[in-house]
Amino acid sequence: MPPIDAKALRSALGRFTTGVTIATCRDSAGLRVGLTANSFNALSLDPPLVLWSLRRASPAVSAFESASHFAINVLTEGQVGLSRRFASPVPDRFAEGQWADGVGGAPVLAGCAAVFECALHQHETLGDHVLFVGRVERLHEAVLPPLVFQGGHYHLLGEML
Ligand SMILES: Cc1cc2nc3c(=O)[nH]c(=O)nc-3n(C[C@H](O)[C@H](O)[C@H](O)COP(=O)(O)O)c2cc1C
Repeated sequence: MPPIDAKALRSALGRFTTGVTIATCRDSAGLRVGLTANSFNALSLDPPLVLWSLRRASPAVSAFESASHFAINVLTEGQVGLSRRFASPVPDRFAEGQWADGVGGAPVLAGCAAVFECALHQHETLGDHVLFVGRVERLHEAVLPPLVFQGGHYHLLGEML
């Protein structure tokens, strides 16, 4: 079989529609770390496990590998500005949004569709990403319209069928 072309793979993966999250933790100096991530997914109900992946080259890898906890903040359509901010090289990403300390100090964002506060269960480098598995210790949810990501663009949720 010919090797898979990276551009074609990225394009085809982009057909898989996702929500958008901001994954957060504290680094070893206690500083807040966070980035926009749509690799979040459910893994297990019993025990309650969730997963997401971070590119190996990210400066945030060591913080997420050493933190006892991380939080997954599921964004609403009104939080698209924060999604863009947390995917950009701005000096202090946390200067916008209303942030509080969650379990283990992981930053929790107000006004999200859901928040999963997790203890780090396992991490493993696989390919060019690090897979993080978290055990959910606390969760929050609100019936708010989610932010949707598809084909490299943000969308509003369509109509229910
Ligand atoms: C919608 C969206 C989803 C993203 N999902 C991920 C992801 O799951 N994992 C990842 O490593 N980067 C993801 N990124 C890219 C990071 O947010 C971006 O590279 C950010 O600058 C990383 O922060 P860092 O520079 O601190 O590593 C995503 C970006 C966007 C806009």
